[in-house]
Amino acid sequence: MSRLEFPSGFLWGSSTSAHQVEGDNKNSDWWVWEHSQKRAEELRKQNKNFQDYYSGIACDFYNRYEQDFDIAKELNHNAQRISIEWARIQPTKDFFDQNAMEHYRRVLAALKKRGMRTFVTLHHFTNPIWFSQLGGWENKDNIELFLDYAKKVVLDLGSMIDFICVINEPDLYAGMAYAQGFFPPQKRSWFLAGKVQKNLISAHIQFYKVAKGIIYECGYVCQIGTAQHVMKIKALGFLKFFTYFIEKAVYLNFLDKTAACSDFIGINYYTRHSIKFSWRYPFIRNIEIEPGTLLTDFGWEVYPQGFLYLLRQIKKYNKPIYITENGAADAEDKLRKDFICQHLKFLHQAISEGIPVQGYLHWSLLDNFEWAHGYEMKFGLVEIERQNGLRRKIRDSAYYYADICKNNYLEI
Ligand code: FCB
Repeated sequence: MSRLEFPSGFLWGSSTSAHQVEGDNKNSDWWVWEHSQKRAEELRKQNKNFQDYYSGIACDFYNRYEQDFDIAKELNHNAQRISIEWARIQPTKDFFDQNAMEHYRRVLAALKKRGMRTFVTLHHFTNPIWFSQLGGWENKDNIELFLDYAKKVVLDLGSMIDFICVINEPDLYAGMAYAQGFFPPQKRSWFLAGKVQKNLISAHIQFYKVAKGIIYECGYVCQIGTAQHVMKIKALGFLKFFTYFIEKAVYLNFLDKTAACSDFIGINYYTRHSIKFSWRYPFIRNIEIEPGTLLTDFGWEVYPQGFLYLLRQIKKYNKPIYITENGAADAEDKLRKDFICQHLKFLHQAISEGIPVQGYLHWSLLDNFEWAHGYEMKFGLVEIERQNGLRRKIRDSAYYYADICKNNYLEI
């Protein structure tokens, strides 16, 4: 057996996002979409019961966060990523709800009390209803509205935040919501997705500039960065000659444009995507994965070596790197342990090559509402027994990971 030591001070923990765990996020565009006629029809056509795709009470994390942080602490995590729900802080355009802000102050205080470092995402896929009614991210003028909210969060909560991930997976969000039509507002136009990508880049840069001033004046120490979705691309046919341009469009462009305005780079890595050109919109399609390939419940290929490939690419930005998400949908907890082990092995190799990775946050602490897939996909280190009053049940793999967090080394 050999021992792979991680640098001292390495951060270990897990990630969550508000809409996926808190419950009752009624003022958000996702809530409206989940309950829309269109969504119900779509699910009916797939022979699915639309009620299984309501986020509803989610994990009731809004009320049970203390208990959940106790679990994280018991599992030796020293960092936690959460997100602030904009739709709670600003339920209507003209009203900032100070009670909601106080709630998040208590949440962050609960982490600090447990000696944990805090990663806070300001936008994780969801928007207040009023913001989407104004055209959401399609409209350049709306960036200002996001900045109003985001500045307020930094001002009010900045003293308790160590790392801000401004916008979660901007490129993936633009693609899913505006090109592929999987997320609300379900548009299908690459042109629109490009416009949204551009506005998200601009929001990140503008936020960085103004927030740095606030942080400096208030004497806060929080750092500002991303949580960018990266993926290994396997393109087939003539598309393979365009791999670099695909990588550029799906993740590198955002990093190229925002790295100068980021104190750190956060990356979310899950899988390798195998794609091929198609004459039909959206002009690419997934290809069959070879039989025998290890897949998660989501059908995503387990491809840990892709992690190293991507980290080598990201090295060029010369910024501290945090893994802000990495994990597997695995209801039976059959492959999570090995998934963690293999990914950490490649992560360790990256570090030994001088790539400055300083923390790893597993997705996710709890089984949660997996967006368009409802509660089907179980990413949690902790199982949520939905038929049993949302009882928390720690999975075996969580204990395996807990040992790594405690020891700061991986044994292979
Ligand atoms: C990421 C999202 C996260 C979760 C995981 C499985 O793309 O950021 O909210 O859904 O995928």
